[in-house]
Amino acid sequence: MPKLKLLPTIADRLSKKIGILTIASIIGIGTVNAQDGEAIFKQSCGMCHSVGKGRVVGPDLKGVTTKRKEEWLHKFIKASQSFIKEGDPDAKAIYDEYQVIMPDQNLSQDEIKSILTFIANKSDEKPAENVEAPKAIPLTAALIMKGRKYFEGSEPFVNGGTACISCHNLDYDNIIPGGMLAKDLTKAHSRLGGDDGIKGILNAPPFPAMTSAYKNNPLTEEEITSLTGFLMLVDKDKVHRHAKDSSGLLFGGFIGLCIIITLIMIIWNNKKRKMVKQHIYDRQRDTI
Ligand code: HEC
Ligand code: HEC
Repeated sequence: MPKLKLLPTIADRLSKKIGILTIASIIGIGTVNAQDGEAIFKQSCGMCHSVGKGRVVGPDLKGVTTKRKEEWLHKFIKASQSFIKEGDPDAKAIYDEYQVIMPDQNLSQDEIKSILTFIANKSDEKPAENVEAPKAIPLTAALIMKGRKYFEGSEPFVNGGTACISCHNLDYDNIIPGGMLAKDLTKAHSRLGGDDGIKGILNAPPFPAMTSAYKNNPLTEEEITSLTGFLMLVDKDKVHRHAKDSSGLLFGGFIGLCIIITLIMIIWNNKKRKMVKQHIYDRQRDTI
C-alpha cells in the first residue's frame, strides 16, 4: 500500500523537476554568462573550492583555466572519477594528491562554460585583488567630516543611495532632525559593538527597509569607512550633544511636564480664588 502511494509522489516530483529543467533551459539558452557562472560556482563549487583564496576541500582553482585544456576541465567537472579511471595522468595525479572524490557535477555544457568564464575572470583579477587587499582605508579627520556630509546628504553617495538622514536621526552639532522611520544613531557605534558592527550593517544591511534602499546603490568602501568614523565621533563626543543622553532627555521632559502642571494649577487656582471673591462680593452687594 505505501508503495502505491509513493509512486505518484515520485512521478509528481519528477515531472516538477523536468518542468523546472525545461523552463531553465528555455530561459537559459544563450544567456548563461559569467554572472550566472558566479552564482552556480557559489552554489555548487564554493564549499570545496576558492578562486585565489587558497585550498579548501579541493584545490584553489585560480588559473586552472590556463593550466588545463577546456575539454579536460569539462570532463573532470562532469565525472572526475570516470575520467581518472580512463587513465588521464593529470586527473589521476590531482586525485592522488587530495584523496577526496569530487562528486560528479550534473551541469550542462553551457553552465560549465559559464563557471569556467567566471574562474578565468576571477583569476585575472589579481591586480585588482591586490588593490583591494589594503582594504581597510585609514581613517582621517577629513574622512570623518565627509561622513557627516554623507549622513546629511550634502555629499551624495557615488552610487546614488539615499542619505541616512532621511530615515535616521542623530543628536550632534546642529545636524537637523532626521527621519523617524528607523532608530536614532547617536549611540549606534557603541550599541553595535564598534567599527565592525557598523561596517557589517553598512556592507549588507540586514533590515528590509535599509536593504532595499542600498540594494541597487551599494555604499563604497570609502563611504562606509567615513560613515563609521563619523558615527564613532558622534557616539564619543558628548560636548556637541543637545541632550546629554536619552535619560537626560527623559528627565528634561519630566521637568517640563511638572512646570506645565504647576502652571495649570496656578491658573486654575487664580480662577477659583477670583470666583470665591466674586461670590463674597456679590453677597455683600446683595445685603446692601
Ligand atoms: C565536495 C567537494 C567538491 C565540490 C562540491 C567540487 N569539487 Fe572540484 N575538486 C574537489 C577535490 C577534492 C578535487 C581534487 C581532485 C580530486 O580529489 O578528485 C577537485 C578538483 C577539481 C578540479 C581540478 C583542479 C586541478 O588543479 O586540476 C577542478 C577544475 C574542479 N575541481 C572544479 C570544480 C567545479 C567547477 C565545481 C563546481 C561545479 C567543483 N569542482 C565542485 C572537490 C570538490
Ligand atoms: C530607507 C530608510 C533607511 C535609510 C536610508 C538608512 N537606514 Fe539604517 N536602518 C533603517 C531601518 C528600518 C533599520 C532597522 C532598525 C531600526 O529601526 O533602526 C536601520 C538600522 C540601521 C542601523 C542599526 C541600528 C541599531 O542600533 O540596531 C544602523 C547602524 C544604520 N541603520 C545605519 C544607517 C546609515 C549609516 C545609513 C546611511 C548610509 C542608513 N542607515 C540609511 C532604515 C534606513
